[in-house]
Amino acid sequence: MPILFRMESKSSQSRRWFLRRLAAMGVVTLVGSGLCSGCAGKGIPPFVELPPTPTPLRAGKTPAASAEVKEIPLPQPCTKGSLSLEEVLLRRRSVRMYRHGPLSLQDIAQLFWAAQGVTASWGGRTAPSAGALYPLEIYAATANGVYHYLPREHRAEITIPEDIRKALWAAGLYQESLAQAPVIFVLTAVYRRTEIKYGERAERYVKLEAGHAAQNLLLQAVALDLGAVVIGAFYDEAVASALQLPAAEKPLYLIPVGHLVE
Ligand SMILES: Cc1cc2nc3c(=O)[nH]c(=O)nc-3n(C[C@H](O)[C@H](O)[C@H](O)COP(=O)(O)O)c2cc1C
Repeated sequence: MPILFRMESKSSQSRRWFLRRLAAMGVVTLVGSGLCSGCAGKGIPPFVELPPTPTPLRAGKTPAASAEVKEIPLPQPCTKGSLSLEEVLLRRRSVRMYRHGPLSLQDIAQLFWAAQGVTASWGGRTAPSAGALYPLEIYAATANGVYHYLPREHRAEITIPEDIRKALWAAGLYQESLAQAPVIFVLTAVYRRTEIKYGERAERYVKLEAGHAAQNLLLQAVALDLGAVVIGAFYDEAVASALQLPAAEKPLYLIPVGHLVE
């Protein structure tokens, strides 16, 4: 399956030269602009297609489970919103009550991208990562099932085709925001990816990274006119069990997101 990378916004002659060299060598294929409708015609750089590379120490599912996992393409992220960063920062507030109604796949894809999207041809993401080792995983629990984000492909795999939000609500001490939200994002981490290089320091680095990714998601929610709150009060084992996480993957944050109450 091809992997799509978005080029960094600052295009340079040397980067274009490098890409043309890679294309000539057959390493990459330059493809169309892949723009979302909101970005059309705003000079967003092209995508670059690279051969797939396995994520190191990917959490993965059991072979039996992975045979049933379905993958879906996600709408391309929009990279030009209508609010300035300062306006988004000014408006950010924890929102725990939501108007009834599901989030669109476009919104879910945009929130995934804000948290962990790939934004550089070498694999760099929207959030910084110690040693660029990317220990974080992100899921969206919806009424239709659980989507797991695949950043390099900007796709999602449906890991559980059922609504597990009630289980997350219980795991999160029955907090009202979890009961109300059409989508509950879950940030998890595979610590081993960072421990390989940083040893005990990984404990700190991974949690710092979860903060970066979560803040990106919160700010993106504001830019989309959605409400969200980060939740740290939950039973780890109950969340891991609801999401059927492998033993090496630990939940760090629940982030319910919904439409603002008028
Ligand atoms: C690490 C962390 C854990 C949090 N856990 C919860 C939580 O379990 N439930 C909740 O409703 N809010 C939670 N919050 C949100 C805070 O309550 C909120 O940020 C704080 O009241 C300040 O309000 P503001 O976000 O609107 O500025 C958490 C925030 C952080 C940073």
